Amino acid sequence: MRFIGAILFTAIAGLIFVASFTATVSAQDEPLVGPKPPVVVKPMESHIGNITGHAADAKSDYRRYCAGCHGDYGDANGENAVWLDPKPRDFTIATFKCRSTLTGTLPTDEDLFNTIGRGITNSNMPIWNVFTKQQRANLVAYIKIFSPRWEHEKAGTPITIPPEPPVTIESISHGQALFAKLECWKCHGTHGEGDGPSASTLTDSKDNPIRPYNFALGGKDSRFKCGSTNEDIYKIFMTGVDGTPMPSFADVIQPNDAWDLVHFLRTLQVHRHSKENEVLTAAHGVIPPYVNKNPPPAADTNKAPGGGQ
Ligand code: HEC
Ligand code: HEC
Repeated sequence: MRFIGAILFTAIAGLIFVASFTATVSAQDEPLVGPKPPVVVKPMESHIGNITGHAADAKSDYRRYCAGCHGDYGDANGENAVWLDPKPRDFTIATFKCRSTLTGTLPTDEDLFNTIGRGITNSNMPIWNVFTKQQRANLVAYIKIFSPRWEHEKAGTPITIPPEPPVTIESISHGQALFAKLECWKCHGTHGEGDGPSASTLTDSKDNPIRPYNFALGGKDSRFKCGSTNEDIYKIFMTGVDGTPMPSFADVIQPNDAWDLVHFLRTLQVHRHSKENEVLTAAHGVIPPYVNKNPPPAADTNKAPGGGQ
């Protein structure tokens, strides 16, 4: 009995040994589960006011807080990415939604710094306001290691935003006329509910379906992906949401007209507490039709908006 027991024991132990040995060997042979090449941390920097961010100092924060979605290599292939819609940003192509700079250009360090602190509403990108400014600046620098664009190109120049004129019912009315003329409704819908005739067909530059923003959905303090102030909305449609079908209108809208459009867009956020909604309520909720008091001689009013891809 003892003898058989001993043989059995050796056999089982042997089997376990062989099994674990094969497992280690195959793990080493299998390139998919083998150790990945290390991330090369280029000496990138960021400048936010008087703070200088260094990529090397963000290495552990990035791996701990960002890589799960954005991926160790910044390619948007983090382990959680499959579950997310919209997908995390792919830093290897350096296309960013929230910019103060013209479409197609790189955002400024401040743009990225602000986006990280603000998070992206209606997406899984968290609000990272627990970090110190230095940590956030370091992360901005770290994002730059993933695309060679940051070594060859400078950030775009921020657009100039003229001071905001007062909110009046005339301004709102002109904004509404622009919303119609520039065909914002084709995607966003006449009431801004994200249900225009083109809405269901839209895809982003990585072929994922994307919905136009629904202005009516938010509550009292509804936000945009790229901010919440009137200046932020101004920037969004003047610079475009790159990587999505949301175009840039900087070539077609005059700076002051853009403010009228901002004022109208605020009224589409029906639940939001805003100066614009107060003015509209005072006008009994009716936006009068726009009357152009000084029509241009024979201007070309049919220019198509520039691409936002
Ligand atoms: C839970 C997942 C998740 C985590 C964790 C995460 N992100 Fe994101 N991030 C996203 C998603 C999703 C988007 C894209 C949102 C969109 O397109 O609307 C995004 C977008 C971004 C953008 C692009 C902004 C733009 O203008 O296009 C930056 C920059 C960014 N994240 C930085 C970070 C940093 C830095 C960290 C770590 C501190 C981080 N993210 C952690 C999900 C995540
Ligand atoms: C071709 C379709 C299309 C047209 C035309 C269009 N949009 Fe958009 N817009 C989109 C899509 C898609 C998004 C959502 C982008 C995202 O979620 O990343 C969007 C988002 C927005 C946002 C919110 C961005 C944010 O930060 O959350 C604003 C504001 C906006 N559009 C204003 C306008 C205005 C004003 C016009 C007309 C002057 C216009 N759009 C025309 C497709 C369009």
